[in-house]
Amino acid sequence: MAELGQSRRSFIGTLIALVAGGVFLGKFLAPRPRRTKTLLAVPKGDLPRDGALVYREARIAVMSRGGRVYALNLVCTHLGCTVNVTPAGLICPCHGSEFDSEGRVLKGPADRALERYEVQLVGESYQVQV
Ligand code: FES
Repeated sequence: MAELGQSRRSFIGTLIALVAGGVFLGKFLAPRPRRTKTLLAVPKGDLPRDGALVYREARIAVMSRGGRVYALNLVCTHLGCTVNVTPAGLICPCHGSEFDSEGRVLKGPADRALERYEVQLVGESYQVQV
């Protein structure tokens, strides 16, 4: 009889330890909400339709194409110069890489697309977020 009581206590102790461990691990393994950081905010009315706004200091271009709004990081993926946004396209002044309006490489030596940033319309402004 005493053995059965000790066995039951041991079982309950193990059960408590498993539940406590699960709660502890759950805090670390649970998906965390994605944190975003707003890099800049652009008044909605400032962005021309099918055009671009260039922020040279931030090295970001906010693009409007066919009703979509997105942002490109103007840091060239070759060696880091700032890509110019021109009517002829996005052109790196350092070694001549060219990118299309979506940031894809048209001509090297860059071999990777420009980084894109998410843009959210919040109230009356577009917010460029990472
Ligand atoms: Fe842009 Fe080399 S840094 S092409």
